[in-house]
Amino acid sequence: MEKKYAITIAGGGSTFTPGICLLLLTHMDRFPVRKIMFYDNNAKRQEVIAKACQIYLRENAPEVEFGYTTDPETAFTDIDFVMCHIRVGLYAMREHDEKIPLKYGVLGQETCGPGGIAYGMRSIGGVLEVLDYMEKYSPDAYMLNYSNPAAIVAEATRRLRPNSKILNICDMPIGLEEKMARMVGLKSRKELNINYYGLNHFGWWHQIEDKDGNDLMPQIREQIKTYGFAKAALDMNPNAEPSWVDTFTKAKDVYALDPDTIPNTYLKYYLFPDYVVEHSNPEITRANEVMNHREKNVFTLCQSIIDKNTSEGSGFKADAHAEYIVDLACAIAKNTKEKMLLIVPNEGAIENFDRTAMVEIPCIVGKNGYERVVQGAIPQFQKGLMEQQVSVEKLTVAAWIEGSYQKLWQAITLSKTVPSARIAKLILDDFIEVNKGYWPELK
Ligand code: NAD
Ligand code: G6P
Ligand code: MN
Repeated sequence: MEKKYAITIAGGGSTFTPGICLLLLTHMDRFPVRKIMFYDNNAKRQEVIAKACQIYLRENAPEVEFGYTTDPETAFTDIDFVMCHIRVGLYAMREHDEKIPLKYGVLGQETCGPGGIAYGMRSIGGVLEVLDYMEKYSPDAYMLNYSNPAAIVAEATRRLRPNSKILNICDMPIGLEEKMARMVGLKSRKELNINYYGLNHFGWWHQIEDKDGNDLMPQIREQIKTYGFAKAALDMNPNAEPSWVDTFTKAKDVYALDPDTIPNTYLKYYLFPDYVVEHSNPEITRANEVMNHREKNVFTLCQSIIDKNTSEGSGFKADAHAEYIVDLACAIAKNTKEKMLLIVPNEGAIENFDRTAMVEIPCIVGKNGYERVVQGAIPQFQKGLMEQQVSVEKLTVAAWIEGSYQKLWQAITLSKTVPSARIAKLILDDFIEVNKGYWPELK
């Protein structure tokens, strides 16, 4: 009989949980699931999401065992995969991450600049905790982590849990590849053969071909030069949120800096920080948008399913964009050898870059883990930027491990988004105040 898999979703109360839970059900033909368990450390938040999913499963997939819990032993016993998307400190802390730097004229972003560093200092402990529970109760399981900031989390697990079965992955390149496939008239990004190098939220495509080996870069460049990713994004989703459309459009200016490559949209924060600050409202940031829309919508929908005791006609739907997570689980479970972008120790894959850096590069994924696809030597421009940013990430993790104020001050100072050590210190001291109980004590 074909093996069926047991999955724990860590961060059961996440806004992404219903979409991912339903997505698992739509891929049962290639990735059969026997059990789905939700785990969160916030019982009240998780309960709303879990009860709604329970009703959906009862109506649509009664054969799948389902449970939700805050008890680690129940959550992590007898499982094959942990899909981990936790947010330590919830959106309330994301709001601080974004608003404190803005007080000092520095951009406020979830994963980039000082905000990402602050979030990293909260996330490391949370992700390690989940990883340790998994290893204690299901030592053979794999953790697929997409909790942010993925770059810092990945560096922390490299240093502190080097032998753990954890794969760090991000959806941003996947979403951008979908847009590039659209630009050249292909149905899906799976029809592209790409090469890419960088750090998480900090990378570049340097080769894009179709499956016959035809170079697609010239056609893609033509579009990016004029519209960034915005035209393709709006063609695919006319209701795309304005803040994302702005990011997709700005990619054309990021591209202009190095027309040999296609940039990840997140580079706008490092290369045009003054533009980002000018276009930010220090009173209303992305955290507010997400709280007022995604969070509210997901929880309202779940509550209405609970109240009606049925999911029929609710519009509850699978998150098709998260298909990459099923692809990754499938690659490991079924040895598909799919080429996927992962965040892994460099070890020479980028020839002229720190071997110990956690880099985002294509890997071939199978039942024994991943093999890196060598990317060769990178140009001076990218190398310079990446050396600075990887040092920010490494210093942040070192600060967390050692409880070092000095190293965290250095990390914030080194971020390309921060103008001086004086401003870095002001931001750091404010962060320490609001992160009490979340950060290790710094000396
Ligand atoms: P959310 O706040 O809605 O959900 C996160 C959940 O994690 C909450 O229910 C919270 O209680 C729980 N949690 C926090 N600390 C925990 C711990 N120590 N143990 C167990 N549960 C814990 O957040 P969201 O917006 O749905 O995002 C979830 C995560 O996914 C974030 O880290 C976000 O940045 C990340 N994300 C990553 C990608 C990617 O491409 N890498 C894409 C989207 C979202
Ligand atoms: C992309 C990134 C994620 C990030 C998310 C933020 O998907 O890859 O890492 O968490 O954007 O989206 P949000 O809607 O929460 O601002
Ligand atoms: Mn990401």
